[in-house]
Amino acid sequence: LSAEAQSMLEAHEWLSKLYHHLLKHTKEGKEGSTYLDNRGIQQETIDAFQLGFAPDKDNFTASFLEKKGFHLQTMVKAGLLTNHQEQKFKDSFRGRVIFPIRNHQGKTVAFGGRIVSDGEPKYLNSPETDLFHKGNMFYNFDLARNHIRKTGEAILFEGYMDVITAYQAGIQNGIASLGTSLTEKQARLLRRYVDQVVICYDADPAGLEATKKAANILQNAGCYVKIAKLKQGMDPDDYIKEYGSESFRNHVIGASVTYMSFQLDYLKKDYNLQVESERMQYIEKALDEIATIQKPFERDHYLKELGERFDISKEAMQQEIAYRRRKFEKYKDNQQPERHTNIRKNVNT
Ligand code: GTP
Ligand code: MN
Ligand code: MN
Ligand code: MN
Ligand code: MN
Repeated sequence: LSAEAQSMLEAHEWLSKLYHHLLKHTKEGKEGSTYLDNRGIQQETIDAFQLGFAPDKDNFTASFLEKKGFHLQTMVKAGLLTNHQEQKFKDSFRGRVIFPIRNHQGKTVAFGGRIVSDGEPKYLNSPETDLFHKGNMFYNFDLARNHIRKTGEAILFEGYMDVITAYQAGIQNGIASLGTSLTEKQARLLRRYVDQVVICYDADPAGLEATKKAANILQNAGCYVKIAKLKQGMDPDDYIKEYGSESFRNHVIGASVTYMSFQLDYLKKDYNLQVESERMQYIEKALDEIATIQKPFERDHYLKELGERFDISKEAMQQEIAYRRRKFEKYKDNQQPERHTNIRKNVNT
């Protein structure tokens, strides 16, 4: 670790303790503790995640860091301070609940900060530094790791508050990918610990888009993917607040479905299944999806479900799949000629 990175690490350690102390024991932190209280966060959870509060002052953090002897320009690099007017250093995190972001060894390397009043941005996150590469790590991985290993399953959330309220609801293997979308690197990392990942993103258009992307990345990394479904417009935190912990565990996480099942369901939104012609179009699309499944028993499973749902014979369904599989194979041949012999091609045509 460079001297600069070492100093950033120390600053984060000091500050996470300071912010946590302010939140718990001082009137400067009252705004933060009231905010968390209103959101139903308990003391034990505040301790477990070392939540804190950065006061709404221009140079509270700056003067603290200066007194401790930190090189303030390095603190600007760490994202803790700004200095727009050359030498005037100003706190970056002001009037925000602080979520220390720990690396996988449990060291705080960055902060997320949520504003407690109205204002922009809602969340402020530390920039990328030598210590903090958000595409390489997960929020809460250090605490969740043992539970992830034990259960062979990780629950992937969108935000800090989702991980935290899920934890309060008894879900200890919850993590969040930091930033917008899951990276291949994160997926490979996770694969070392788990067979199965449950994606539990927000039930809004952005969350849905992110779910599909993450599911594909995780599948390509060799993870078995399940999707937890929430009521439209809700996120895990909203759901727990509205319906309680037990319902969240049993009816959301416990009721998560395979990614294929999720896709087949999601496809339905484009069709009015009461109308015969649209029903047929849906079945076509669903068969296209099912035909992409590699494992015969899995294909069979979804075929059976689809057939039963729409009262179509097993034989007809299997013919449709066989037809699509042949097309699929031919397509693969064209895409990757080096991997298939001419003999095989001739068999297919
Ligand atoms: P709450 O309103 O506190 O419940 O937040 P949320 O987690 O439900 O927020 P949302 O679903 O909008 O965003 C999910 C995650 O995306 C957050 O936990 C943040 O990590 C990140 N995020 C949200 N808003 C912002 C923002 O304004 N700026 C940045 N950089 N990240 C954000
Ligand atoms: Mn504590
Ligand atoms: Mn969201
Ligand atoms: Mn959300
Ligand atoms: Mn939320």
